[in-house]
Amino acid sequence: MIRNISQEEVFDLFFDLIIDIEMGDHFDKTNESHLKWLEQKVSRRFGCGAIFYGYFDTDKAPIGIGSVVIEDHPIFQGYSELLDLGVIPKFRGLGYGTKLVQHAEHLSRDAGLFCMYISTYAGDEIAISFYTKCGYTPVAVLPDVNGPKDEGKLYLRKRLYRDRE
Ligand SMILES: CC(C)(COP(=O)(O)OP(=O)(O)OC[C@H]1O[C@@H](n2cnc3c(N)ncnc32)[C@H](O)[C@@H]1OP(=O)(O)O)[C@@H](O)C(=O)NCCC(=O)NCCS
Repeated sequence: MIRNISQEEVFDLFFDLIIDIEMGDHFDKTNESHLKWLEQKVSRRFGCGAIFYGYFDTDKAPIGIGSVVIEDHPIFQGYSELLDLGVIPKFRGLGYGTKLVQHAEHLSRDAGLFCMYISTYAGDEIAISFYTKCGYTPVAVLPDVNGPKDEGKLYLRKRLYRDRE
């Protein structure tokens, strides 16, 4: 079951996972600035209108998380952007990540949007393989967003109304 979750639930139910998504191995639980940055990051996401949602099993145990911003527009057909996506390690490889992406696509289609964007670390081969399998095509790389010794950020896009072109 997928349902929307609050800012508190992001941390209460998906604490280790949101760390994995946003900071990976760089996160240091003993470093206060890391936690503060993460809380601000999630707070800013809510502030810009992101919808956070969680996937739960039949016992209501958390499985995975996603968040999406619906960039609708009164004139243009608009786009959405998937911001956070992750599945708790023991549930990976079982199709939950795909279902979480599809949920954001459903919300985007319901809003009449043309396409959905996703960005990830350009050196993350697993994420790129996963998003490609979900139907996303690489469209741009932003170099140096994390400094000079970094692969940068890769944007991928999927057209949601391919049949209307
Ligand atoms: C990326 C992630 C969300 C995938 O979730 P998942 O539930 O394991 O993915 P699915 O089971 O739906 O996999 C769908 C397809 O993605 C690809 N894929 C998934 N995991 C993969 C891996 N480890 N290596 C290569 N391809 C992979 C496969 O093509 C897979 O299809 P298949 O099962 O038919 O082979 C999950 O690995 C994760 O949470 N990673 C940590 C956080 C992260 O990297 N988030 C995304 C970037 S911000």
